[in-house]
Amino acid sequence: MRAILIEQYGVPPVVADVVDPKVPDGGVVVRVEATGLCRSDWHGWQGHDSDIVLPHVPGHELAGTIAAIAPGVTGWNVGDRVTAPFICACGQCRECLDGNHQVCPNQLQPGFNYWGSFAEYVALPFAEVNLVRLPDELAFDTAAGLGCRFATSYRAVHQVGRIQAGEKLIVFGCGGVGLSAVMIAAALGAEVVAVDTNPAALALATRYGAAHVVDTADAERLVDLTGGGADVTMDALGSNQLVQEALRSLRPRGRHLQVGLLPSGVQLDVSRLIGQELQWLGSHGMAAHAYPEMLDLVAQGNLKPADLVTRTIGLPAVPDALASLTTPNATAGVTVIHP
Ligand SMILES: NC(=O)c1ccc[n+]([C@@H]2O[C@H](COP(=O)([O-])OP(=O)(O)OC[C@H]3O[C@@H](n4cnc5c(N)ncnc54)[C@H](O)[C@@H]3O)[C@@H](O)[C@H]2O)c1
Ligand SMILES: [Zn+2]
Ligand SMILES: [Zn+2]
Repeated sequence: MRAILIEQYGVPPVVADVVDPKVPDGGVVVRVEATGLCRSDWHGWQGHDSDIVLPHVPGHELAGTIAAIAPGVTGWNVGDRVTAPFICACGQCRECLDGNHQVCPNQLQPGFNYWGSFAEYVALPFAEVNLVRLPDELAFDTAAGLGCRFATSYRAVHQVGRIQAGEKLIVFGCGGVGLSAVMIAAALGAEVVAVDTNPAALALATRYGAAHVVDTADAERLVDLTGGGADVTMDALGSNQLVQEALRSLRPRGRHLQVGLLPSGVQLDVSRLIGQELQWLGSHGMAAHAYPEMLDLVAQGNLKPADLVTRTIGLPAVPDALASLTTPNATAGVTVIHP
């Protein structure tokens, strides 16, 4: 099959012919119809993820049709339209039995623990636990985002951040994660401030429901804009500088959502966390069993993830698209790959 192959960290990957994935025990192989370009793929390419073994095929935010099924897997057929959370959980450990599949210690992530979806086919383990059936009317391009960034933001804003109508949320970084968060929080009735250096990203944030947009992360200005500080802030880039501005933009007892990856760690002003009773909340993907509630909101038109997709590309354009994620004013919105 054709796939994007990373041979060395930080060196542009190539389109290569590689072996097709084998059907894992208890799993399926999916014919990839659409797969999103997430900044986590960029982190992987840069060598920020110790799970990756080179050579490597990235890609973890996908939708497609089942091409093959392991013996004994029930409830699924070849040709079924599916997505899956990028955190494929085992379904059997203590965390999974508690419903917290997103922190399963036995999790396997396509595009990190093994070869991913920037390819014609991808394997998905623990199929009965993780596969999510797609409604016929949900396009593959839209559904891909449900495998990672849209679902991650849904969990972060709604389940972890517990954002309430009328609360003020500042989203730092308005790419796939941040724009999803803007749309979801606005639908939940929050007043959203969107921060991004790219004017095109801010224009999309306004379209998706941001009440205010700001081109520089400046805590003093953001505290003014929110009338004394935000109830919730979110780092949707993965930036030490943005984390510092975010924590200083919170009102006392505010909640900070950390979704952006910080491979070099971060220095926290712990005295401030204590004195202001700030909450630091990590958020990681979303369990498959939590998808129906989100899919219902999509079906009812309350959430419109289809609007987030601004560009579709083929595999040959992936190396440039990956590299451009760190250039100023990169393509705003979500880029989807058709392998
Ligand atoms: N926790 C999870 O489960 C999870 C899931 C998905 C993605 N992630 C992580 O979330 C982060 C965001 O991913 P994405 O795919 O949305 O990224 P993205 O590249 O699509 O978006 C990043 C945005 O940040 C903006 N930006 C850059 N510098 C800025 C600055 N100084 N101030 C304000 N904005 C700035 C860019 O213009 C861009 O719009 C990444 O670290 C990714 O790895 C985490
Ligand atoms: Zn992702
Ligand atoms: Zn588990």
